[in-house]
Amino acid sequence: MSSFKVGLVGLGTVGSGVVNLFNEHTQMYQERTGRSVQLAHIGARRDNPNCDTTNIKVSRDLFDVVNDEDIDLLIEVIGGTDLAYDLVAKALQNKKHVVTANKALIAMRGNELFEIAQANGVSLRFEAAVAGGIPIIKALTEGLAANDITSVEGIINGTGNFILTEMASKGREFGDVLAEAQALGYAEADPTFDVEGIDAAHKLLILAHLAFGLELDFSKMYTQGITQITPADLDYARDLGYRVKHLGIARKRDEGIELRVHPTLIAEQNLIAKVDGVLNAVAVEGSAVGPTLYSGPGAGSAPTASAVVADVLDLARGNVLQPITVKAQSVLPQGSIESAYYLRLLAKDHAGVLSKVTQILSSYDISVEALIQKEATPHTEEVPVVIITNRTNEQAMLDAIEQIEQFEGTVGAVAMIRVENAG
Ligand code: HSE
Repeated sequence: MSSFKVGLVGLGTVGSGVVNLFNEHTQMYQERTGRSVQLAHIGARRDNPNCDTTNIKVSRDLFDVVNDEDIDLLIEVIGGTDLAYDLVAKALQNKKHVVTANKALIAMRGNELFEIAQANGVSLRFEAAVAGGIPIIKALTEGLAANDITSVEGIINGTGNFILTEMASKGREFGDVLAEAQALGYAEADPTFDVEGIDAAHKLLILAHLAFGLELDFSKMYTQGITQITPADLDYARDLGYRVKHLGIARKRDEGIELRVHPTLIAEQNLIAKVDGVLNAVAVEGSAVGPTLYSGPGAGSAPTASAVVADVLDLARGNVLQPITVKAQSVLPQGSIESAYYLRLLAKDHAGVLSKVTQILSSYDISVEALIQKEATPHTEEVPVVIITNRTNEQAMLDAIEQIEQFEGTVGAVAMIRVENAG
C-alpha cells in the first residue's frame, strides 16, 4: 500500500483538532483512501495540551515541515496572510499539495497562490476556509457542478451568529458573548474580523469566486458588521416576526453581481432565521436543482478539522479539480442593490410627524409594509418608530433617509437594516 505523508503547520484550535482526528481514525482513513495516510511532521512554536503528538515528529521551525522531502501535502492552519503566504507558496513550489483553513489568505492572496499551484502541478484546497464543517465548497464545485449558480447566501460567521443569538435570546451583553466566543475558539485572532464582517466578507468572496468565476478582489466587497445592532433592534425585529442574522449575499443579476455582507432581518419562518448559535447555513440556488440549503457548525476545533481532513483524504485519493476559470464580471455598486428595509427613528410626539415620514418615503416610491410606534422612553418626548418598507433600490432608500433625518419632526440618525427573503 502506498503512503501519503502529511505535514501540519499550526497547532492552535484547528491544528489540535486535526491531530486528534488523525490519532483517532488513521485506520479508517486508510480504508477510505486505499493509502496509508499519516500525519508525519508538525511545525509549531509551542505544544498544545489539547492534543497528543507523542508519535509525531515536531519542529519549532515551521519551514522544516515545508522543506521536508518526505511530505506529500502541507496543512496550513496558522492563519494570517504574511507568514502563512510564505509557507504555502514555498510548499507549493516544493511540489506539495496544500490544504488550508485560511480564508483571509485565499481571499486576499489566492490569485497568486493558485498560479503557483498550477505552475507546479499541485493543488491548493480550502474546504475549511468557508462555513467550518459544512462541505459547501465541495457542494459548489462538485455536487452542483451541472448547474449555473444564480445565488449563494447565508450565515458564514459563527462568532457573529453566536453573539446575535445570545443577545436576542438571553439579553446578554455584546462584549460578554464575544469573550465567550473567544474562549470557545470560535473567534478570529483579531475578533474585529468577526464583528466587523471582514471574516464573512473573505468567505463570501471565496464562494462567489467558486460559484460565478468572480475574480478574487476584496476591494469589491461591501462589508458591514454587527457592532451597530442594538438589543432594541433585536426586540423590535422579533415583535414584527423577524430575526436579525448577519448574512453574506452573492447574487447574479442581469446588470452584474450583488456582493455584500451585512446584518439582515429575515422572516422567522425562513429556515435560515432558525439557524442559531455557532451554526452556519448557506443557501445555494442552481439553474437545474433549484434552491438548496446546507447547515452545520461554522467554527470550532473538531468541525473545522473535519473539513481540513476531508480535503487531505480527497487529495490522497487523487481527486484533483480543475482551477476556476475567472470571467470578467461587474460587481454592482451598493446603491444599485435591491432590498426591503427596516428603519428605526426617533420621532417627536406631535401630530403629523408620522404622516410626513411616510410622505417622504412615498416620494421615493417606497411604500410601508409595517409600522410600529413604541412608547416614549421616560423623560423624553420622542417616540421610537420602526418601519418595514417594500423592496426598493438602495440609493432611493439612502436619499429618503437623508430627508427624514433633515426633517425637524425627527431626532438623530435613522438606523437602517436590510430585510431579505433568504433561505
Ligand atoms: N471566526 C470564524 C467564525 C471561524 O466565527 O466563523 C471560522 O471561520
